Amino acid sequence: MKLFVDTGDIEEVRQAAQWGIVDGVTTNPTLISKSGKGFKETVTAICDILPHGDISAEVVATNYDDMLKEALEISSWRENIVVKVPLIEPGIRLVRTLSEKGIRTNVTLVFSVSQALLAAKAGATYISNFVGRVDDISDDGMNAVAASVEMIHNYGFDSEILVASVRHPLHVVQAVEAGAHVSTMPFKIMQMLFKHPLTDIGLKRFLDDWNAAGLKVM
Ligand code: E4P
Repeated sequence: MKLFVDTGDIEEVRQAAQWGIVDGVTTNPTLISKSGKGFKETVTAICDILPHGDISAEVVATNYDDMLKEALEISSWRENIVVKVPLIEPGIRLVRTLSEKGIRTNVTLVFSVSQALLAAKAGATYISNFVGRVDDISDDGMNAVAASVEMIHNYGFDSEILVASVRHPLHVVQAVEAGAHVSTMPFKIMQMLFKHPLTDIGLKRFLDDWNAAGLKVM
């Protein structure tokens, strides 16, 4: 499973990149607006920190012609950019156009299998299935993820199901169980994945015993 960080904070990307386990970054207009920096400046800085990662940057126009102009501009900034496109009618048309040009896409704001089907048929590289926002309205966001993963396998689509709107580590575990291809999550949730109280207790005991015996590595 690929792990992406969902952030517009360059410092968080820098820290996460040091772990050597991060496969990409997802941004959205809200995250970019919180970064305090310009769109291009933020996205290109993230691309340069993770040159082998997939970095999603989203168009903000909602009509086909302007979406296409923005997509071509954004994709020209760096080779590792994936153009993020909302699942609306001109968005699906745009994904088809970009896919024919060899430009990779991440279809966002996907909540149902029927929407995921449209994105897959248009040639989306990634399909961002939001889970937390569905849980927030008392439904189970992971249901659509499991069904969409099954659809991708049943019909042999090339798209990868990306679990987005992740709110806690259990969402990551459920994404693994559903066989999702990617999980994107806030930096603080990725940090939480490291944590287990028995790891901390176990490490303390090892080190206490080692130090009590007066041992040295070299
Ligand atoms: C995904 O790419 C989105 O940026 C993100 O996961 C949305 O998360 P939220 O529902 O917590 O805003």
